[in-house]
Amino acid sequence: MAVHLARGGGEVVTNFLAIETSCDETAAAVFTDELRVMSNVVASQTGLHAKFGGVVPEIASRAHVRSLLPVVDEALSRAGVSLAQVGCIAVHNTPGLVGALLVGVSAAKMLAAGLGVPVVAVNHVQSHIYACRLAAGRDIFPCVGLVVSGGHTALLRCDSPLAMTLLGGTRDDAAGEAFDKVAAILGLGFPGGPAVEREAAAGDAAAFDFPRAFVSDGRLEFSFSGLKTAVLYACHGQDVSRATPPPPGKRRADLAASFQAAVIDVLAAKAKQALRQTGLKRLAVGGGVSANQALRAALAAVCEKEGAELFIPPMNLCTDNAAMAALAVEKWKRGEFAPPDLDAEPNWL
Ligand code: KG4
Ligand code: ZN
Repeated sequence: MAVHLARGGGEVVTNFLAIETSCDETAAAVFTDELRVMSNVVASQTGLHAKFGGVVPEIASRAHVRSLLPVVDEALSRAGVSLAQVGCIAVHNTPGLVGALLVGVSAAKMLAAGLGVPVVAVNHVQSHIYACRLAAGRDIFPCVGLVVSGGHTALLRCDSPLAMTLLGGTRDDAAGEAFDKVAAILGLGFPGGPAVEREAAAGDAAAFDFPRAFVSDGRLEFSFSGLKTAVLYACHGQDVSRATPPPPGKRRADLAASFQAAVIDVLAAKAKQALRQTGLKRLAVGGGVSANQALRAALAAVCEKEGAELFIPPMNLCTDNAAMAALAVEKWKRGEFAPPDLDAEPNWL
């Protein structure tokens, strides 16, 4: 049975062990029901997927199986908490790669059964927003949430931690996926986001007039596949059968800068529309693409103009991690425990 540590006044503190395996990071964290993060360990698989230019689901699942228990051990040891002192297991069971999620969900259920503690299942995209709450150390709700990563591009209306609804998502590629694919077209390697950002620094963002899907209508939706194809055609013309990446130089930098500007214009425009349509005055951002400095600057400009407050957590809480699953504390307080037959759910809705 779990042992609880004494809090002042005779109350007890409950330790949470959280698990994240939705994509290509194997992560575990320990935090308390007072949202004190005691450890946050991430084992990245980037090296395993780099030669394929993207995440290979089967390879991701197998790597999670190998890494998860060592990562859990590391998180417990860094926190100075033993398994017997864990009072709840939190896990992301949706959305993500089904095989990858299953590894985390199975481990969570196994650990919880062995310890005699509950499992609380949380939504990975909602946790990205909750990372802003965690980093801010104060309430951030109600807010508009923007999650931009390799797997997701989503705008959410977040009335409270447990009342987050999807305003709109992407119809095809996620923003980070577009960065990764365009990096591959330009021969810049994987993961593409940081490489494209570096290349774009030397380029002219107005050199190519790339499409900005839905930018001027009120739809809170995204589409990046046409943009990706436009970059491909600008690189090679329409005969892409023998396409090789463009050589380093001004043209390649211009392509990167123009592509990046198109993505950022759309993200900033949709964030602005979401703030206006909801009337909310806070914007909470998460996901790996929010590392992009130009995106941060564009979102800061939008928030300043709209009189809204911007929340972007530090990088270790922006990219995939298990500490953001502290959203589980909110569910745990309400007694919303996962059923014994909890399953992995690849799609959110
Ligand atoms: O949240 P994350 O670590 O993992 C998930 O995909 O869930 O996000 C990774 C994504 C990748 O697509 C990567 O290319 C992108 O975030 N990314 C960036 C930057 N750094 C990472 N995109 C644009 N600019 C960056 N500086
Ligand atoms: Zn994520």
